[in-house]
Amino acid sequence: MHEQLEGIEGGGLYTHGYGEAVLASHRHRTAQNSAAHLLPHLEEGMRLLDVGSGAGTLTADLARIVGPSGVVALEVHEGAAAITRTELARQGLGEVEVRVGDAHRLPFEDDSFDVVHAHQVLQHLSDPVRALEQFRRVTRPAGIVAVRDSDYEGFRWWPELPSLERWLALYLRAARRNGGTPDAGRRLLAWAHEAGFEEVSPSASTWLHATPETRRGWASTCAGRLVVGPFAEQLEHEGWADADERAALAEGFRDWAEQREAWFVLLHGEIIARA
Ligand SMILES: C[S@@+](CC[C@H](N)C(=O)[O-])C[C@H]1O[C@@H](n2cnc3c(N)ncnc32)[C@H](O)[C@@H]1O
Repeated sequence: MHEQLEGIEGGGLYTHGYGEAVLASHRHRTAQNSAAHLLPHLEEGMRLLDVGSGAGTLTADLARIVGPSGVVALEVHEGAAAITRTELARQGLGEVEVRVGDAHRLPFEDDSFDVVHAHQVLQHLSDPVRALEQFRRVTRPAGIVAVRDSDYEGFRWWPELPSLERWLALYLRAARRNGGTPDAGRRLLAWAHEAGFEEVSPSASTWLHATPETRRGWASTCAGRLVVGPFAEQLEHEGWADADERAALAEGFRDWAEQREAWFVLLHGEIIARA
């Protein structure tokens, strides 16, 4: 499935799409490796909204902590909501409600949740401040808004390879053309202040791919996206990288992963904001 997000009010395109190369990587996400900043604040019985739930593994972990009956997952169209629903059912968490709606215009009453969580979502939105204002509106007074986003320009790797430099340059260009902000991580604090939050705790964390297994997984998802799906199609359509170049970049990524010294660290910004 390579649906994109055309026509969504205030939203652009979701650069990655929902192909297998994307989902295989997103399914490795856990509350421990992707929402550690939020975990100390969670208690059983809390009502939690997970905006942009996608592959759904993070939603599932959060639901096991607070209890599935208090969790709502939100996705921007039915195709993506179905992916979340399938994962939750697979994990025996069918009680979680999965809704369709836009982060820029949340379909919930004021003060509906104790916690609103969004992981790797704001970077894809054309108006992340408006989304944060919405998160604040639907969170009860003194409740928590927890956000984590990548800072692609803070990604660092070794050895230095022209093909990885080129991949990053192409990704930054595509994400920006789609209305996104690929260095969102470093802007979260500023955006939260702009959205009216007064008490905001910032933090940063990384994912590291430096073992044969994690390197291969990362190279496989990046290489896959260069060959099939919306990113590949966009590069072709815009005339930024033809099929031969994309195949060579994909090969470069896979070769990089086989090097014993290969290292790739992904920087993320995080905030915990009090409503
Ligand atoms: C990178 S994925 C992250 C998925 C999940 N949070 C995770 O970390 O595994 C971003 C998700 O945000 C969703 N999304 C994009 N724009 C959205 C919008 N305007 N409202 C709600 N969700 C949106 C996409 O459909 C996609 O599933």
